[in-house]
Amino acid sequence: MSPLDLRTALAGLPKFTDDNLLVGLETSDDAGVYRLNGQTALIQTVDFFTPIVDDPYAFGQISASNALSDIYAMGGKPLTAMNIVCFPTKELPIDVLQKILEGGAERIKAAGAVLVGGHSIEDKEIKYGLSVTGIISPNNIITNANAKPGDVLILTKPIGTGIIATALKKGDASPSDVKEIVQSMIQLNGGAADLIRQFKANAATDVSGFGLLGHAFEMAAAGRVNLIIVVSQVPFFRNARKFALHKKYLTKGNKVNRLLIGDNLTQSNVVDQSSKRLLFDPQTSGGLLIAVQKSLADELVACLRKCGYLSTRIIGFVTEGAGQIILE
Ligand code: CO
Ligand code: CO
Ligand code: CO
Repeated sequence: MSPLDLRTALAGLPKFTDDNLLVGLETSDDAGVYRLNGQTALIQTVDFFTPIVDDPYAFGQISASNALSDIYAMGGKPLTAMNIVCFPTKELPIDVLQKILEGGAERIKAAGAVLVGGHSIEDKEIKYGLSVTGIISPNNIITNANAKPGDVLILTKPIGTGIIATALKKGDASPSDVKEIVQSMIQLNGGAADLIRQFKANAATDVSGFGLLGHAFEMAAAGRVNLIIVVSQVPFFRNARKFALHKKYLTKGNKVNRLLIGDNLTQSNVVDQSSKRLLFDPQTSGGLLIAVQKSLADELVACLRKCGYLSTRIIGFVTEGAGQIILE
């Protein structure tokens, strides 16, 4: 659902206040956080969607990694997961579902979490995802709201999964294009979460449906700062810019993400159309966008690369401001 529709739907809800509700709906953060006691807070999130690749096992892995990611983006550790399943049992053999669930379980295991249950319904279209519960120390929560002027912005995975997955649907992506995005999407953000805790990052979020600029904008708005993004430094998948030349590979979310930022976006220089389209491209199981103190940035990048996030780059910095994104 478009974030604009969602905002309308949520507008009439009563406000929930509770001294232990540390992160709620207001700042559009990755997960909700509820304090249990002085040492421990619960982190909760849920995410599920329709297949974006043909291989059911890989789809299960991708969807599970994506759901786990919102726990990691807050600096947390996932503990338990529950499957959410919609499946057309009359139209598809049950071993397809079996493979999806096996893929999901493999990633849950890799994350060091346990599968505790789930819920399934009959549906015309396959949908799969997880509800994940994690923990974090209330003093170590990393939200999207605390980026500080002078911070450096780091991105841990390339951009372009939406556009390349659309090219795949249209039969135009090569097996190596697909392999590249699948490998990236199944990679857990857990190693990066450990590092942002260690380096005491000021803010972090995972890049998902709102695209790089949409999530950057949320970070800028919640922290009341400006984010400068140096477009030539943003890592893209190998053929992403080639596909982005063609309008037919843009997802619906691309346009919605533009609307969402509206006039909170300025460009110092002319940014080429392909890159700009990719900056709005909705991501599945994208990397972390991290704001960290400048003196620690190079070391954090080196550690992230060593930890397996090979495309990690410094892509910009934070300045004083009022929630604007500036492309350079
Ligand atoms: Co998120
Ligand atoms: Co989410
Ligand atoms: Co049930």
